[in-house]
Amino acid sequence: MSTKNKLAKKPINSPSFFIGRGGNDGIISFGSGQPDLVPPKEIFKNLENNRLFQYGLIQGELNLRQLLSKEYPHASCENFVITNGASEALDLAMRVLATEPGPQKVLLCRPYYYSYPFNVRLAQMEPVYTDLQDGRINLKDFKEKIKHVKAVLINSPSNPTGMVEEINTLKEIEKLSRKLKVWVISDEVYKDLIYGRKNYIIKGPRVITINSFSKTYAMCGLRVGYLWTPDKNFVQKVIDMKVHTSMNTNIMGQEMSVAAMQAPKSYIKQQVKIWHQRRDLIYKGLNQLGFKVRKPEGAFYVLPYIKNSNRVVSELFYKYKVIVYDGTWFGAPDHIRLSYALDVSKITEGLGRIKEFLKDKQDWLD
Ligand SMILES: Cc1ncc(COP(=O)(O)O)c(C=O)c1O
Repeated sequence: MSTKNKLAKKPINSPSFFIGRGGNDGIISFGSGQPDLVPPKEIFKNLENNRLFQYGLIQGELNLRQLLSKEYPHASCENFVITNGASEALDLAMRVLATEPGPQKVLLCRPYYYSYPFNVRLAQMEPVYTDLQDGRINLKDFKEKIKHVKAVLINSPSNPTGMVEEINTLKEIEKLSRKLKVWVISDEVYKDLIYGRKNYIIKGPRVITINSFSKTYAMCGLRVGYLWTPDKNFVQKVIDMKVHTSMNTNIMGQEMSVAAMQAPKSYIKQQVKIWHQRRDLIYKGLNQLGFKVRKPEGAFYVLPYIKNSNRVVSELFYKYKVIVYDGTWFGAPDHIRLSYALDVSKITEGLGRIKEFLKDKQDWLD
């Protein structure tokens, strides 16, 4: 099939159009948040074992849960469920939450990770929104809206903004959720990818922490994640739902995750150093092109302003072979989201193509 045919123009309305694309085909992908770095080499050892292909505990392998419980103060391995990435953890958490007493509403910070509204609606609940102010939670609005919901979803560092919430804000949310008996789903998939300060992990009796091996350990495709909460009853409900949906999470991935956690911690430090350099490069580059953009503080995303974002996504892909995501998918129309989880040379080449694209469209940046 010719390249022309392969890129026959279809409308681009969802990230599913792009996920998994962008290999050696001349495409520069600022799309999917998929690290190009390699996972710790330790994960490839000891894989010749039949057990890795069998069914496993629905809750997840004990050795992995034990290791994970040491990462969080006061956590027990009994309170973890290993899932198919953070994605399944989010889905199960929402569907179990829907069975808990309280209003069927979940508060999301907007812009949000594109799956959140779908996760909420698929669980037959209703998403309600608080708009970020200068990239951060507007506590006044948040405090008002939290009174009317069953749960709030926090994601810091954030996809798509790359912003990190102030520690005081996170502590205030902890306090409010205790007082109002509101659940907090804390999506911590970028907890290790933070440039300025140490992260602060939200704690509390109704906090459901979600994380995965996709980003920190560059193991996206393996689909291993987890949730944990101090509420044992909630954990049991998640297990009871998972047994009738995906069953156990793949055992090989879990064993590889154990090996990843046992690799020297210098692996994570080294990764963060690389993300940091790339952050500086893309931030400077976008500024030079005339974009209004906030400097990311964590994760590996930027969300610059540009008019006609859907057209931008389509033209950049079909004419310039550059993938960027439409801010509209994240509740941020007139923005595009770029992932900088790609090599420096590709970032530079991609920015060059965007410069070409912008030649007759400077007014789209105003
Ligand atoms: C904020 C956020 N949550 C969850 C996920 C899903 O991650 P996983 O690959 O672990 O399913 C992503 C992936 O990009 C994400 O950005």
